[in-house]
Amino acid sequence: MIKLDNVNLVYDIDKEVQTYALKNINLTIGDNRLVGIMGPSGSGKSSLLYLMAGLKKATSGKIVYNNTEIIVSKRANGGELRLKEFGFIFQRHFLIEYMTVLQNVLTPINSYSKEDINKALGLLEELNIEHLAKKKPSQLSGGQRQRVAIARALINDPKVIFADELTASLDHKSAKEVMKVLSKYKNKSLIIVVTHDPSILEDADEIINILDGEITGVEEVRGEVI
Ligand SMILES: Nc1ncnc2c1ncn2[C@@H]1O[C@H](COP(=O)(O)OP(=O)(O)OP(=O)(O)O)[C@@H](O)[C@H]1O
Ligand SMILES: [Mg+2]
Repeated sequence: MIKLDNVNLVYDIDKEVQTYALKNINLTIGDNRLVGIMGPSGSGKSSLLYLMAGLKKATSGKIVYNNTEIIVSKRANGGELRLKEFGFIFQRHFLIEYMTVLQNVLTPINSYSKEDINKALGLLEELNIEHLAKKKPSQLSGGQRQRVAIARALINDPKVIFADELTASLDHKSAKEVMKVLSKYKNKSLIIVVTHDPSILEDADEIINILDGEITGVEEVRGEVI
């Protein structure tokens, strides 16, 4: 569960012109569901995601993940939680070009044990890209690269998967395929997807609408049962 209490985010607080990216956010998100965060460009979607993921620090307010307050610090504390329990997928996939697909998938756990290699291959198989395990990212299509990024995000069985515009660089068909694969994991993980494209949220259980840094509505929608 992630809970935000009176959270505000102001950019450039020490400068003359400040941006109120998020205003007084109160929100509770349960486990094992697919949640969409929707809103136009500049509305604060990424900011909200990064705060919840502990990648950005709120100006005020409190963010709690399963009874633990998320504290953003450079010290190991918060980082450990992120590595163990959170997975990330971004619009740009940030794969390491000189590594193979398989090596990329294994980077979060930094292990090449037989067991972990088999686990990675299993994920690639689920994502229908097992045959690409030995290729380099530059030899793949955008959709295939995004699947690699998903496998990498799933390798440590994250309890929460944060995805920011993960389909933005894909055509509609690939976008839907990628979302289908991701939404299979909603029985095991909380998946939070930021997007401005409602058509990829067909399987969402809940949609949070955001406009000008404020939550304008939270809709419970019945996600398709897979
Ligand atoms: N590092 C920053 N410094 C100053 N202002 C910022 C910074 N990052 C974002 N902002 C501002 O905060 C507001 C929210 O930005 P955010 O990136 O969260 O929007 P978004 O909804 O993700 O937009 P998009 O759909 O274009 O990605 C915007 O007004 C933006 O200009
Ligand atoms: Mg954004």
